[in-house]
Formats: sequence, C-alpha cells, structure tokens
Amino acid sequence: MRVLSGIQPTGNLHLGNYLGAIRNWVRMQDEMDADSQCFFFLADMHSITVHEEPAARIRHVRDMAAALVAAGIDPNRSVLFNQARVPAHAELCWLLNGTARIGWLNRMTQFKDKAGKNRESASVGLYVYPVLMAADVLLYQATHVPVGEDQKQHLELTRDLATKFNADFGVELFTLPDPIIPKESARIMSLRDGTAKMSKSDPSDMSRINLTDDDDAIMQKVKKAKTDPEPLPESAEGLAGRPEANNLIGIYATLAGTTADAVCAEFAGKGFGAFKPALGELLVETLRPIRMRFMDLRSDDTALDAILEKGAAKASAAAEPTLRAAYRAMGLMR
Ligand code: TYM
Repeated sequence: MRVLSGIQPTGNLHLGNYLGAIRNWVRMQDEMDADSQCFFFLADMHSITVHEEPAARIRHVRDMAAALVAAGIDPNRSVLFNQARVPAHAELCWLLNGTARIGWLNRMTQFKDKAGKNRESASVGLYVYPVLMAADVLLYQATHVPVGEDQKQHLELTRDLATKFNADFGVELFTLPDPIIPKESARIMSLRDGTAKMSKSDPSDMSRINLTDDDDAIMQKVKKAKTDPEPLPESAEGLAGRPEANNLIGIYATLAGTTADAVCAEFAGKGFGAFKPALGELLVETLRPIRMRFMDLRSDDTALDAILEKGAAKASAAAEPTLRAAYRAMGLMR
C-alpha cells in the first residue's frame, strides 16, 4: 500500500481540510503495516496559480507543515515534504502534458469554478493544475489517495492519464490510484452558506473554522452560523432541503464519531439555541490540543525546515525510478 496526498499551503488549515482529508491521512498513517508507506506533501507548486509575495509563501509552507504535524502526521513514519523541493513533480508533469488531452482539462469543474467568468485571464497553471496533480500521484506509484469529495474528478483524470500513457508507450509503468473519500464529512460546507463548500478562498472568515481560531472565536462562529428557524428533526431524512442544518449536524456527527441519525435523535424537537453550544464545545475540545501543538511547533522555523528537508530527500529518492522509467518509455533517455 502506498498512500499519498497533498494540501495547498495557502492560508490556514480549516475544518473542511481537517475532517475531509487530514484526519484520514493520520488514520491511514497510524494503521500502516511494515510494507506500506505514506507520502504527504504541501502542494506549493500548485499554489503559484494564485499570486502571493515570496515571504508569505515561505511562511505558509511552514504554517501548513506545523499544522500537519500538530494534527498527527509523524515525520518519522510518513514522508512529509514540499513539492517545490522535489523537481521530479514538475518534470513528470511536463512529460504527462504530452498525454493529457485539452478536452479532458476542459471538463474539470474546479477550473471552471476557480476561473469564473473571466477565463481568458486565468493563469495557464490553473488550467494544467490537474496534470501536475496526476504527476504527484503517479510519481510514487500511489495506490490510495485520501481526499475530500472535491478532488474526485482530478483523480479520475489521473487514472485516465495513467491508462493512456501505459497504452501509448506499451508499458505497465503507472499504478492506477484509488481515491479514499470519507463517507461522512467528505464535503464540509461554509458556515454562512450551506450550499458552498468551506474554503480558504472564501473572503469571509466567519464562513470557516480555522485551526488557529481560539476557543472564543470558535464559539462565536458557531453561534453566528446561518441556520433556519425550524427545530431539529427526529432523523436525518428530515434534513432534506435544509443545507445549513445538514452541515452542522454532519460536523457534529463526524466529531462525535456517530451518525447524523443519532445526532437528530438526541436533539429532536430542540432549536439551534440548544444545539449550537453543544457543537461549539465539541469543536473546541477537538481543536484545542491541535492548536496548542501547532503554536509550539510554529515557534521553531529551523526544526520545521529540517523536517521538510529530510522529507524532500526521501521523496526524491522514491520518485527517481518512476521518473527515469517515464523518460525511457518516451525515448527521451536511454
Ligand atoms: P486543497 O488544498 O484544496 O485541500 C486539501 C484537502 O482538503 C479537502 N477539502 C475538503 N474536504 C471536505 N470539505 C471541504 N470543505 C474541503 N475543502 C478541502 C480536499 O478535498 C483535499 O483533500 N489539489 C489539491 C492538493 C493536491 C493533491 C495532490 C491531493 C495536489 N496534488 C495529489 C491529492 C493528491 C488541493 O488543492 O487540495
């Protein structure tokens, strides 16, 4: 088993990332046997699709590295690194650009969402983004890729690319990866709009819970979260057509390790005035220890840089054979 996943180091780790992906990374790392290996990385090469000052980029890479370690990624057991330090990602991306089809990229919903109406002025990087993501996965022969729902289409493209490359060059080089998407919490929604996903690019900070929010901020955000005037239903069926209620109950169920049905049964007939403080408490108790570890780790840049440097060396060594084999398969290297 080869587990691999990445996260963009732009802004804070938020509850969507944590419940949708990172918790699963930690679980997979902790359940790994001796023959398996986990690779987790900061997708800083993907983050260049949004302009940022160099100093902020350096800061954000360290922030996200600290957040992942605080959340439970152990750099001694998993390979933790940033993509820019392993040039094989960019190299394989370019090789795969020969195989990727424009029609495939035109169908990517994330590009459409992010480029918006003004597509002509979107960066080329944003368009080719899924090819770099495929390179990230295929370089390490990853078998399992834990992600949130929004990355599913990119992983389907990764599988298509691997299949076409193998067929075009008559090789069995790339492994087809399986996405691992949690049943609950695969899509945590904004606290301000139950139909939009929780995201670091939302201009309103009230829309998301950040790992760095203190206890008061978390309670405030939950208190101000958008809801409807109805009481909570007896079962999860009654959440249909109530996106905000559905989201908050889903978050509660995930944190408490139970189902939306069980949460509804517990709070049936009560209003959000009773539910929200309970949800706030649960969030505070879950996030507080992670935040404390984060603050501790974040105070030592040298230690964080050393973790990433060690990770990059291990990742480069693991990526090398596949990259060379891709060059050879294409007749670019003997
Ligand atoms: P990114 O940085 O947007 O998000 C990191 C992970 O968090 C998940 N996620 C969510 N899950 C549930 N609800 C939400 N509201 C929510 N928001 C984010 C994402 O699904 C993701 O798993 N392209 C990727 C990074 C990447 C990558 C890769 C992932 C680059 N190369 C190779 C896997 C394999 C991204 O931008 O994720």
